[in-house]
Amino acid sequence: MIKVGVIGLGAIGQRLIKNFNEHSDVTIVSVCDRVEERLQEVSTELKDVLTFSNYVQMLEEVELDLVYVAVPPKFHHQVVSDVIAKGKHVLCEKPLANSVEEAKSLYTHAKEKGILHAMNFPLNYKEGSNTFAHLIQTGYIGDVRRVELKMHFPEWPRPWQHNEWIASKEQGGFVLEVGVHYIQQIQKIFGPINVLNRSLQYSEDKAACEIGIIAQMELEDGTPIVIDGLSGIAGKEEIKFTAYGTEGTLSLLNWADLEGGKVGEPIQTIEADPSLSYSLVDHLVRAIKGEDANIIDFYAGYEAQVVLENLRN
Ligand SMILES: NC(=O)c1ccc[n+]([C@@H]2O[C@H](COP(=O)([O-])OP(=O)(O)OC[C@H]3O[C@@H](n4cnc5c(N)ncnc54)[C@H](O)[C@@H]3O)[C@@H](O)[C@H]2O)c1
Repeated sequence: MIKVGVIGLGAIGQRLIKNFNEHSDVTIVSVCDRVEERLQEVSTELKDVLTFSNYVQMLEEVELDLVYVAVPPKFHHQVVSDVIAKGKHVLCEKPLANSVEEAKSLYTHAKEKGILHAMNFPLNYKEGSNTFAHLIQTGYIGDVRRVELKMHFPEWPRPWQHNEWIASKEQGGFVLEVGVHYIQQIQKIFGPINVLNRSLQYSEDKAACEIGIIAQMELEDGTPIVIDGLSGIAGKEEIKFTAYGTEGTLSLLNWADLEGGKVGEPIQTIEADPSLSYSLVDHLVRAIKGEDANIIDFYAGYEAQVVLENLRN
């Protein structure tokens, strides 16, 4: 049985607890949060779980195989460094850290310790995004001519997302929260990204995150990548990731839906291939057992952070 400890019981931490629980080879033995009500909420749900308000104490006192870190981004570096120092396998939420230096130090430290270092970038496990990648790799669009990422939000943060950090310039914003998922996908599917220029728009609140971004980046061969992000606008949320090629166009809409068409033909809905969906927890278990696994590691997290910080700063 793989013994898991969870640090950070917010929206995403609690979501992943359900996934860990569904796996027969995994048991959550301890959880940690600074907020007492969250500890109580989770301990009522999970039987026999140890609760801690101090993660250092949890790491000292509990025998764990894997620690899942789901605290806000600016705490990733400290918490994950302490987990690595204990020699435990670690799953970290995206983005890996809150600066390139922090991300690099986490990757280097984890590699030196020889532990499993994994990131939660869910698009790597979902059928829609994996079908998008598979269709591109098998020639659906021909040679890529342009990649575009549109992120339009009527409100940022979204109504269900209000916490103390997600609207802050320091560790929030939609470029960090949403954009980094697609930066990692572009790097995985198309290769390294070079940021050419970017223009950010802000409100009058100096501490608040961006309300708009226009960025131009390129792939190694000079293929353009365009980012268009805006919040506080009319209409519905739209996150559209599109690859235009010599033979066709393909889009991933709102994380999961696909549409595309061949040049000269209309754009139509494309069914995702369910055989291309994976379970992150299952692949973590495989990796810990030394089996082949599809893991997005801290190096991928570091590479995405380099582009992210270039866009944010
Ligand atoms: N992978 C994804 O799809 C996805 C989606 C949303 C958020 N995230 C990431 O997950 C992380 C958490 O996001 P969230 O929306 O759950 O945030 P949240 O604010 O809802 O939850 C974070 C929790 O961490 C706790 N916490 C903070 N510092 C702590 C500490 N030192 N020790 C113990 N607990 C501590 C807070 O009390 C809070 O309960 C962020 O890095 C975010 O970017 C990932």
